[in-house]
Amino acid sequence: MRADFPAGGGSGAAATPWRVGLLFSATGVTSGVETSQLGGTRLAIDEINAAGGVRGRPVEAIAYDPACDPRAFRRCAERLLTTDGVRLIFGCYMSSTRKAVLPVVEARDGLLFYPTLYEGFEYSPRCVYTGAAPNQNSIQLASYLLRHYGNRFFLIGSDYVYPYESNRIMSDFVRQSRGQVLGETYVPLGAPEAAFATVMERVREARPDVIFSTVVGADTAKLHAAHHAAGFDARRLPIASLTTSEAELALMPREMARGHITAAPFFETLGTPAARRFVAAFKKRHGVHRPVTAAAEAAYVQMHLAMQALERAGTDAPEPLLAALGGCGFDAPQGRVRIEPANHHAWLRPRIAQIGADGRFHIVWDAGAMVRPDPYCVAQNLDDWPADGRRFALS
Ligand code: ACM
Repeated sequence: MRADFPAGGGSGAAATPWRVGLLFSATGVTSGVETSQLGGTRLAIDEINAAGGVRGRPVEAIAYDPACDPRAFRRCAERLLTTDGVRLIFGCYMSSTRKAVLPVVEARDGLLFYPTLYEGFEYSPRCVYTGAAPNQNSIQLASYLLRHYGNRFFLIGSDYVYPYESNRIMSDFVRQSRGQVLGETYVPLGAPEAAFATVMERVREARPDVIFSTVVGADTAKLHAAHHAAGFDARRLPIASLTTSEAELALMPREMARGHITAAPFFETLGTPAARRFVAAFKKRHGVHRPVTAAAEAAYVQMHLAMQALERAGTDAPEPLLAALGGCGFDAPQGRVRIEPANHHAWLRPRIAQIGADGRFHIVWDAGAMVRPDPYCVAQNLDDWPADGRRFALS
């Protein structure tokens, strides 16, 4: 479904807008976090247009709502790249939707900017990955959990590609530390709360130290409700996740969130001057109660980086734009972000936060530097990441 329609082109060549396509779900299981991504994207476009656009031309978005359905994502991408004449697409949250879109993007001479943490082990010449790869979140989280909670893990995920792969990577790190994966189970997207209660029975029998969750979107609140109803205490058995953001927290009572742990490059509570400015601008644009997530920050940052590259290249043709992107950098809310030309992934700053009694994230660990993306985990070792905040082996 078309979410909006751009104003017509200007009267002269100088006023003709640069058209970009946006694919974020307004409905469906991950619509909360995707709405935050759309918010970050629109804020960046507003800022770029207020500063005079790109080469004097405004940026104009054509947005669709693919409702978390990979087939709809593919159809919308096809439409953007053919009927709408767009070459640059910004969007996708679930990896299943990215994998549905990329073959169309590659075949139709487009370029996808993907603002979501994901499982890594992928390279498309037509994708720029601006969320965290496993060497920028999973390994640091594993190290933290192993040192603070123990080495007996239980893995639970939503039933699609990201959770399978992210759990495989986490299992690898746990086994490297002579730990044990006591259980691994998947729940269909949109499953009822009872499905999570059944999983908690298995958790009770397994007696792990940590639950690592790759559950996404609105289902996260059901997982937390089941943990709470089972009488587990987050101090002794936390749920640790890469996909539980401010958007998922907004869907659960505070007592079900308290004590649980997330790793991400950005949190709404980060508090640096750049982060404060971003959060204030986001809430002014979209409303004070709207959650500001790491995925929203990535969406905001990638639009700024892409438009910087467009300014340099003077064309939205993917090859010259990608060549220009290599020389770009953006002082993002999390730190200075740039794209690694060798693999099209972003340099990011890993952080870990724990949810407090106030229902907000409190940062408990910070890498202290931007980390080079290594999406295939070629050079990753748990010992590189002590949990006390010191860092080794950074490029
Ligand atoms: C994800 O599916 N990449 C969160």
